[in-house]
This record gives sequence, structure tokens and C-alpha cells, in this order.
Amino acid sequence: MICIGHRGARAYAPENTLDSIEVAIEHGAQWVEVDIRTHSNELIVLHDEHLDRTTNGTGHIEQQTLAALRTLDAGNGQQIPLLQEVISHVNRRVRINIELKDTNCIDRLIVLIEEFVGVGWQYDDFLISSFFHHQLQQLKQRQPRMLIGVLSAGVMLGYAKFAQELNAWSINLCAQSITQALVDDAKERGLKVLVYTVNNQQQFAEFKAMGVDGLFTDYPKDMLAWLAVN
Ligand code: G3P
Ligand code: CA
Repeated sequence: MICIGHRGARAYAPENTLDSIEVAIEHGAQWVEVDIRTHSNELIVLHDEHLDRTTNGTGHIEQQTLAALRTLDAGNGQQIPLLQEVISHVNRRVRINIELKDTNCIDRLIVLIEEFVGVGWQYDDFLISSFFHHQLQQLKQRQPRMLIGVLSAGVMLGYAKFAQELNAWSINLCAQSITQALVDDAKERGLKVLVYTVNNQQQFAEFKAMGVDGLFTDYPKDMLAWLAVN
């Protein structure tokens, strides 16, 4: 199974910071996952629309200028990164799963990824995921070479049919609502199955037995240590 560092290596460093991403890479994750939002025509790496949980700021991000957001402490003295800083920092050492957390990201995202492809990155170095499936559909229509991962937290009537219809690369499923029937259906449709967020050995074993392709984990070091002997 692929190990995807969730928001970097969230158990060991402040989530969605360059530190967290570096720890995930040091621990051997093959992928890192980050969350992005739009602000002032820029893409910032931040999970919540409010600042309180992960920074020393307060309130909604739209109450602050981008410059002010960048003065905040996102943990251990880290800045809220721009997506382009994350991509530059990763420097193709691992693949990057970028989760769209709002519905305004794709114009800037396409430009940014095409810039990085222009300097040696491949489209399949990135997986763009979201619960906003219309955003993924638009992205795929505008740049068919982009890989998309359809996030879902339930078991749909048509199982993974909707993801296949979107030409997704993967279906990214919630650990709490996944079923074997859904996994089997997705695999039969040629989709990768990724599961979030999986943080203990019992779950590592459960999902390995289900035959999924990868796990999002806050503990990449622990998952990889477990996989080495299982
Ligand atoms: O992409 C998997 C997972 O990150 C989705 O949930 O809330 O952790 O962004 P969340
Ligand atoms: Ca996420």
C-alpha cells in the first residue's frame, strides 16, 4: 500500500507546513497530502477557513490580507505556505496530493501546475482531489492530463460509477464508511482506492486485507514500519 502523509506528517509536526511535509518525506512517505484554499488569487495551504485551530490568528481567512496571513504562526514558527512553495520544497522527491477546499482554486491551480510541468515536473506527480466533484470535472475537462481523486464519505448507490464517469484516477474513501463491495467495484472499474485517515495498526491490517491501494496517515513512520513486517 502507498503511504500518503496526511497534511504532511500531522502527528509529528504542525499540519500543512513545510516542516510537516519534510518530516513525511524523511519518514519515507511516497506521497504527501495538502489542503489548499484561494486567497487574493493565490493558493494557500490551509485546512480550515478559520484561523483559530492551526495558527495564532483568529477569525475567517477573508478578514485578513494575504500579507497578514503570512505573518501568522502556523506552528513551530512556520508560515502558512503558498502551494508553489510546497511544490518547490518537495522538488519531485515525492508525489503531491492537493485537496481543493474551496470552489475557486482551479484557474490558479492549472496555471501553477503547468508552470511546474514546464520545468520538469510530470502531470502524474500530482493528484488533485476534492469533495467538490464539479470542480474536479471542470479541471479534468480543461486539462485532461491532470490526475483527479474523487473524495467520498459514503457508499453511493452506483458504488464507484460516478468516479469512473469523471475519468478519475482514484476514489478516496473515508475509513469510517468504506465497504468491501465499494472497494471491489472501484477496482473492477480500474480506479485506485485510497483511504483516509488511518492511524493505527488494526486499521492498517484491515485495509490491507481489503486490498486498497494506499492510506492517508498522520503517522507515516509508523505505517511504513508496520508494512515492513506485515
Ligand atoms: O484527502 C483525505 C482527507 O484529507 C480528507 O479529509 O478533512 O482531512 O481534509 P480532511
Ligand atoms: Ca485533506
